[in-house]
Amino acid sequence: MADLKVRFGGLQAVAGATFDVREGSMTALIGPNGAGKTTAFNLMTGFIRADSGAVRFAGHDIFRERPDRISRRGMVRTFQLTRVLSKMTVIDNVMLAAPDQPGMRLDHALFRPRAWKAREAVVREEALGLLAEVGIEKHADAYAATLSGGQRKLLELARALMTRPRLVLLDEPMAGVNPTLGRRLIEYLQRLRAERGLTILFVEHDMDTVMGSSDEVICMAEGAVICRGTPEHVRTDPKVIDAYLGAAPAAA
Ligand SMILES: Nc1ncnc2c1ncn2[C@@H]1O[C@H](COP(=O)(O)OP(=O)(O)OP(=O)(O)O)[C@@H](O)[C@H]1O
Ligand SMILES: [Mg+2]
Repeated sequence: MADLKVRFGGLQAVAGATFDVREGSMTALIGPNGAGKTTAFNLMTGFIRADSGAVRFAGHDIFRERPDRISRRGMVRTFQLTRVLSKMTVIDNVMLAAPDQPGMRLDHALFRPRAWKAREAVVREEALGLLAEVGIEKHADAYAATLSGGQRKLLELARALMTRPRLVLLDEPMAGVNPTLGRRLIEYLQRLRAERGLTILFVEHDMDTVMGSSDEVICMAEGAVICRGTPEHVRTDPKVIDAYLGAAPAAA
């Protein structure tokens, strides 16, 4: 994305941010509270409209495309504050995210019931597998409303992965998740990257996680990118220390 700008009333939340995410990388987006990280995600995935700028993904100009279209192109995101469908079961939440998921095809259900059932079973199997990978499979039949905050994050991740994305944007995926599970999650994401070539961009405030698991780090402050590079480069950059790392510990 290039030179993106958006303002909310008098506040320039994103003020000309430019960055690219290398295909196949695990890139961390860091920066102080209010730096515009979540807003950058919203702009990239079409959840809010930029005032100006450019967004390209996989060779396409996707600036101002709608979220569903962008997600069909293979860029999906999770939310800092989760948006699961709480009156649905956990497994149904994941199954609904499947590309061409069976529930959408009423015609198939009515006229080709056997094929539909078979397809549904495959989707269910895949959804259960993802729930197991993120560690919440035992809650598969519970209503999503009964999950804790951390578990909802994991459910959102499973839902995002169910779309078989090329690029996944994770907004504080570990916030509220217990550390052991958090580590497992990172390992799982790294495996997906290695095995499927998944590209990952994640916002995270925990510096040990950022430094230990990403191969590139982008630091934003006041709506713009102030530094990017290897974890080591960013960690020791005076601007980053000044704007973020040197300050009081950031709350998520
Ligand atoms: N929909 C909105 N309307 C008005 N102001 C907004 C809106 N969304 C974000 N902002 C403001 O824009 C600025 C950037 O917010 P953003 O959520 O992108 O920060 P962030 O880097 O994700 O911070 P955090 O680490 O706390 O999640 C903040 O000052 C925020 O209050
Ligand atoms: Mg945020």
